[in-house]
Amino acid sequence: MSAGIEIAHVLAALRARIDAWKRAGLRVGFVPTMGNLHEGHYSLVRLARENADRVVASVFVNPTQFGPDEDFDRYPRTPGADAAGLDAAGCDLAWMPSVETMYPLGVTRAVRVQVPGITDVLDGAHRPGHFDGVCTVVARLFNQVRPDVAVFGRKDYQQLAVIRHMVRDLAFPIEVLGADIVREADGLARSSRNQYLSGDERALAPEIHRTLLSMRDAVQAGGDRRQAEAAAVARLETAGFAVDYAVIRTPLLVEPAPTPGATQGLVGTGADPAPDDARRVALIAARLGATRLIDNLEFA
Ligand code: PAF
Repeated sequence: MSAGIEIAHVLAALRARIDAWKRAGLRVGFVPTMGNLHEGHYSLVRLARENADRVVASVFVNPTQFGPDEDFDRYPRTPGADAAGLDAAGCDLAWMPSVETMYPLGVTRAVRVQVPGITDVLDGAHRPGHFDGVCTVVARLFNQVRPDVAVFGRKDYQQLAVIRHMVRDLAFPIEVLGADIVREADGLARSSRNQYLSGDERALAPEIHRTLLSMRDAVQAGGDRRQAEAAAVARLETAGFAVDYAVIRTPLLVEPAPTPGATQGLVGTGADPAPDDARRVALIAARLGATRLIDNLEFA
């Protein structure tokens, strides 16, 4: 690792550095992560770098966003490699708190942040409590880091919409940017969970991206949305996936109205698109063995 990056494990050190930057009038960018970083995360750091004078990345595997049967314990923790990679990507400060620092009163007594509506569907329905945990930790991170701009990946499409809602509703003075999905050469979206895949599963995994492309092509060719969704589920199941969902939604994650150009808006979600936005997004969550993969594709 080069000498460039600073690592903070306690709040006082983080605050001292950020206070100094703020006094100097510098714009602070922030990238929250759970570590085990890869090119997808580093692209977020680079986008933050383009939009700020200093960049902070947090590395914290957040217990409150994992369900009881999920992979919290086995989630890969690689802080040394993460710090080196963040340094190379141009990050100035890595914030690596302990669970006790993040939840000083204990996880069960933690103040929770809950976003209604948009968290009831898709991953919110399949992973009960997941987005409460995400919002709970991201609100804490925002209070700790006090960034001017924060970057989230578009791969976690629903998470980005939920965070925008929270930022708007709680009046965090933070600009939220979405960064494009980074893919392997065969189309598989980069994810820390890809390393759980066996060789056979890894060979199958790009079928998710191919299916998203087929959903887009079907709808753009004038096909029925529900038929495109059903065909996607059948295609993935035939390939060996257990499908949580394969759907086409508006950017606010509601079902598109049947009339082209007229969409049902989720009133007050705080997501950025206008309710009559004609854009669509195809979203898939599917499991290969014990590994749950998500991906999405936006199109007009
Ligand atoms: O996207 C993630 O890695 C996590 O959900 C986040 C935003 C870092 C919160 O723990």
